[in-house]
Amino acid sequence: MRVVDLIIKKRNGDVLKRDEIKYFIKGYVKGKIPDYQMSAMLMAIYFKGMNIKETKYLTMEMVNSGSIVDLSSIPGIKVDKHSTGGVGDTTTLALAPMVAAAGVPIAKMSGRGLGHTGGTIDKLEAIEGFNTEVSLEKFIKIVKKIGVSVISPTLNLTPADKKLYALRDVTGTIDSIPLIVSSIMSKKIAAGADKIVLDVTTGSGAFMKDYKDSLKLAKIMVKIGVELGKETIAVISNMEEPLGFAIGNSLEVKEAINVLKEKGPEDLRNLCLILGAYMLKLGGIAKTVQEGEIRLIDVLRKGLAFKKFKEIVAEHGGKVKMVENPELLPSAKYCFKLKGKKSGYIQKIDSRLVGKSAMLLGAGREEKESSIDLSVGIVLKKKVNSKTTSSEVLAEIYYNNPEKLEDAKKALFSSFKIGREKPEKLPLIFATVDKEGVKE
Ligand code: URA
Ligand code: CA
Repeated sequence: MRVVDLIIKKRNGDVLKRDEIKYFIKGYVKGKIPDYQMSAMLMAIYFKGMNIKETKYLTMEMVNSGSIVDLSSIPGIKVDKHSTGGVGDTTTLALAPMVAAAGVPIAKMSGRGLGHTGGTIDKLEAIEGFNTEVSLEKFIKIVKKIGVSVISPTLNLTPADKKLYALRDVTGTIDSIPLIVSSIMSKKIAAGADKIVLDVTTGSGAFMKDYKDSLKLAKIMVKIGVELGKETIAVISNMEEPLGFAIGNSLEVKEAINVLKEKGPEDLRNLCLILGAYMLKLGGIAKTVQEGEIRLIDVLRKGLAFKKFKEIVAEHGGKVKMVENPELLPSAKYCFKLKGKKSGYIQKIDSRLVGKSAMLLGAGREEKESSIDLSVGIVLKKKVNSKTTSSEVLAEIYYNNPEKLEDAKKALFSSFKIGREKPEKLPLIFATVDKEGVKE
C-alpha cells in the first residue's frame, strides 16, 4: 500500500476500506507518514467526506491508537456525558454530582479550556487542593466508593486524535463532520463508559453555528456510538448566549454550587435536568426521561446532590470548606460594572465574544501553554430577552490586572445587541436524537 494512492483515492471521492484507514492512522501515529501527506489526506476528507462505514473505521482506528480505560470493575452501567463546547458551560460541575447522587456511576475524564471555551478541569482546580491528576487505580477506587470522580486523562488515550487535531488546527480542516465525529467519539469510547449522552451545542459560542449542521453532526455521532456498541443520545442545546450567568473558573464553581443548592440560573438547571434525565434513563435508573427528571429534582431538593459534590471535593483532596463557604474561593481584586448606554431589550449576547472577553482577562488560554487566572471572569446581569435601560448594568467584570480591562470591556460590550423589539425566545433544547430518530 502506498500513502499517495490512498490520498488520490480519497481525492477522487472513492470510499476507503478498513485496512486502508488502519494503514494511514497507524503509520501517522508511528511517525512513518509525514505531516504533509496527512495534511493532503485531511483536505481530501474535508472536501469529499466519508460515509458512515469509513467514519466508523476511522473512529475505531483512533480508539486503537492508544489505551482504553477499563471500567468493568465498577458495578452498574457507566454513563458519560460530553459537550461539543460552549461558553460559561458549567454543566459538568453540577451534573456529575446530581446524576451520581441519583445512582448512576460517573467515571469522567474532562479537559482543560482553550481559546474562548473553558474546561471542567481548570474549574475544579479553583477549589484549593483539588487533585485532578490522580492515577487510574485511585480514580476507579473513588468511583467505587462515592459513585463519581472527575479527572484529567492519565493514560495515553487516542494519541492519533492529539496528533491529528493539532494538524487539523493548522491546515483548515477542523470543521469536517467525519473528522469531528471520529475525534469526539474515539475519545469517549476510549474513556470506557458503557453509554454516552452528548450535548451538541449550536449557535454563536458553539463549534457549529447553524442548527442544521448541528443536527447532522448529532445524527452521525449517535449512529457511530450505537454501531460501536455504546448506546448514545444527543441533545441539541442553545449556545447563542452563554449558559447561566457566570463565565470564569472560580465564578463557575460558585454558580454550580448555586445550582446544587437550587439557587442557580434557570437555563443551567434545566439543561442539567434534561441531560441528567437521559443519563438516568440510559443508566437504567429511570424508565422514562420524565421519571429521570423527577428523580433529579428530588435529589436536589433533599440536598443529596450538594452533599455528593462535597464528597467529590473531599476524595480529591480539595478544601470542602471552600464549597461550604464559596466566598473563600479565589476572588478577583476589582469589579467593573459594564453599562449598556441604551434602552430596550437584549437581542443577542454573542457567546464567542463573551468567551473571548473572559480569556483576555486571563480566565482562559490563548495558547495551550498559557497560564490562567482562576479568580477572574464575567457575571452577566442581563440575558437575551431582558429589558434594560441606559443606566443599567449588563455585566460585571471581575479582574486583577487593570491593563487587561480595556480589551475585555470592548469585547464584552460588543457582544451585546440591544434593540427596541422584544426578541423571540429561543428554546433551550432544539432537538434530541437517539437510535430511533430525531425529536424536535
Ligand atoms: N471537539 C473535539 O474534541 N474534536 C473535534 O474535532 C471537535 C470538537
Ligand atoms: Ca455559566
